[in-house]
Amino acid sequence: MRRSVVRTLIRPLAMAAAMTAIPLMEAAPVAADSVVVGGYPIDVSQAPWTVALTSRTRFGGTRAGQFCGGVAVTRTVVLTAAHCLAEEVLGAPPDRVRDLKVITGRTDLLGSEGAEIAVQGARVNPRYDASANSGDFAVLTLAEPLPQSAVVAMASSGDAAYAPGTEALVSGWGDTTGNGAYARSLHAAHVHVLADDVCARAYPGGPDGTFQAESMLCAGESAGGPDACQGDSGGPLVASGRLIGLVSWGSGCGRPGSPGVYTRVSDVLRVLKPAAAGRRQPHRKP
Ligand code: ARG
Repeated sequence: MRRSVVRTLIRPLAMAAAMTAIPLMEAAPVAADSVVVGGYPIDVSQAPWTVALTSRTRFGGTRAGQFCGGVAVTRTVVLTAAHCLAEEVLGAPPDRVRDLKVITGRTDLLGSEGAEIAVQGARVNPRYDASANSGDFAVLTLAEPLPQSAVVAMASSGDAAYAPGTEALVSGWGDTTGNGAYARSLHAAHVHVLADDVCARAYPGGPDGTFQAESMLCAGESAGGPDACQGDSGGPLVASGRLIGLVSWGSGCGRPGSPGVYTRVSDVLRVLKPAAAGRRQPHRKP
């Protein structure tokens, strides 16, 4: 979770200066700090639906193998980003990664609170398009149920939580600086849902991607600052107590004019629902 742009620029510089006794030459204007509100550490109880997606064999143990976020939508189903399960990331198809787990109820990745639950099945959205970043979600089935208190409701299309201007919370263990400083402890940031035309103008097409309103939504602050970042992918964007987005992509992190792009959860429901309806059919009498 990205903190204040200014603060993150100052801290590493200040630390470097302190360590090497080189005078601090450059710093962003101090006044800007007071108007930029960044991410902040939270206890997982404040966003209990946030889970860490982990594999220690693939990513090492220094951060419990965390590489993406996820969100519990039922006691045994976790949503994450499709791109988190790509072979470039995992080195193998997800069902071949033996120790793929979610960590629930744990603020500090190196703590022992909460539980580690094995991923039993992984289904990538069949409509996921890696080149367009569209349809960026996957469904994980867990070997054991999470506590009910960890589950968040999904906002269906038409839910007021999608309205531009709605305040939303994004949470994760991702980069807090934009420079690869992955958090050990859960962070969150307040962002606002942006209108689709604002996002379409921010991402009209280019190297970073094209905004597609049907399957994506944008959130951020026009001045930049609070945003999700690398390592937060797949994690939740929650507004009015309901899940509206999954961290997906963006141009940099927290840059003015480059909001965070999220997988639109109403589109997840639209893709998943025909399958659910199909499963119910055999039970129906003709
Ligand atoms: N793709 C990133 C990940 O894998 C998430 C990037 C989100 N970027 C943003 N500016 N909101 O973790």
